[in-house]
Amino acid sequence: MNASGAKCMTSEELYNLSNSGAGTLITKSCTISPREGNPSPRYVDLKLGSINSMGLPNLGFDFYLDYVLEQHESGNDDIFFSIAGLTLEENIEMLTRVQNSDFRGIVELNLSCPNIPGKPQTGYDFERTNEVLNKIFYFYTKPLGVKLPPYFDLVHFEMMAEILNQYPVQFVTCINSIGNALYIDDESAVIKPKGGFGGIGGAYVKPTALANVRMFYKLLRKDISIIGCGGVETGKDVFEHILCGASMVQIATQLMKEDTRIFSRLISELEEIMSSKNYKALEDFKGKLIEL
Ligand code: SIN
Repeated sequence: MNASGAKCMTSEELYNLSNSGAGTLITKSCTISPREGNPSPRYVDLKLGSINSMGLPNLGFDFYLDYVLEQHESGNDDIFFSIAGLTLEENIEMLTRVQNSDFRGIVELNLSCPNIPGKPQTGYDFERTNEVLNKIFYFYTKPLGVKLPPYFDLVHFEMMAEILNQYPVQFVTCINSIGNALYIDDESAVIKPKGGFGGIGGAYVKPTALANVRMFYKLLRKDISIIGCGGVETGKDVFEHILCGASMVQIATQLMKEDTRIFSRLISELEEIMSSKNYKALEDFKGKLIEL
């Protein structure tokens, strides 16, 4: 599937995704009110990936709720709805409306956008994450997972897993971009927001993404699925995410580069790898990384 943010903001983009070879789709992370996002240039393709500081441009909660409800009416409930309130109160307001709606799909709560000036990434504040989940699961009973930032310290993996294991979280998406990187061309930053600081995606982040998938696969309750995200360009990348423990993968940078044709290419490349190894199903190799 796409990662939230990649080609999933407008009706046309969502239509294209739903008519692609993707297994499912996720909507752009939304806030209650529509947002323009950060000033441009705010997304730049790099040799080994991308840098972005989009700032959550989106058409507002009502637009995406209408979209997922329309999908529900046409019998499509296998859909992900991304929510990224700028405050806990905003998340509670949106999720209360989702809870009270006919939506039967899955919410991905984005706790990791690195691009809003003045707003910390919730996923790096363990106490706050616990408070957010506590307040949300007090009333929210539909399937919900969280999109996490990348972690780099083994103790942080353990701290986050301990929090997540207390709640009926259905999945985690690992990882959002590696936030606040700086890419320079000649003498200039390549994006405008935040003095050129932005989230890095693509091949640069694949080893970090795989490590996050792997650690959470080991530390989380077995009923919490992992969605791998980071550096997926080929069927081999998909294979490696699944080998580390992912049940699904999301694609952002390479979807931006290649468009929705990427999904059928990845599926056939993955199928080729599986048949060369005589694997019939993802379960045959999911989580079975050989550790030396
Ligand atoms: C953005 O809109 O800035 C990207 C979304 C994210 O990183 O969560």
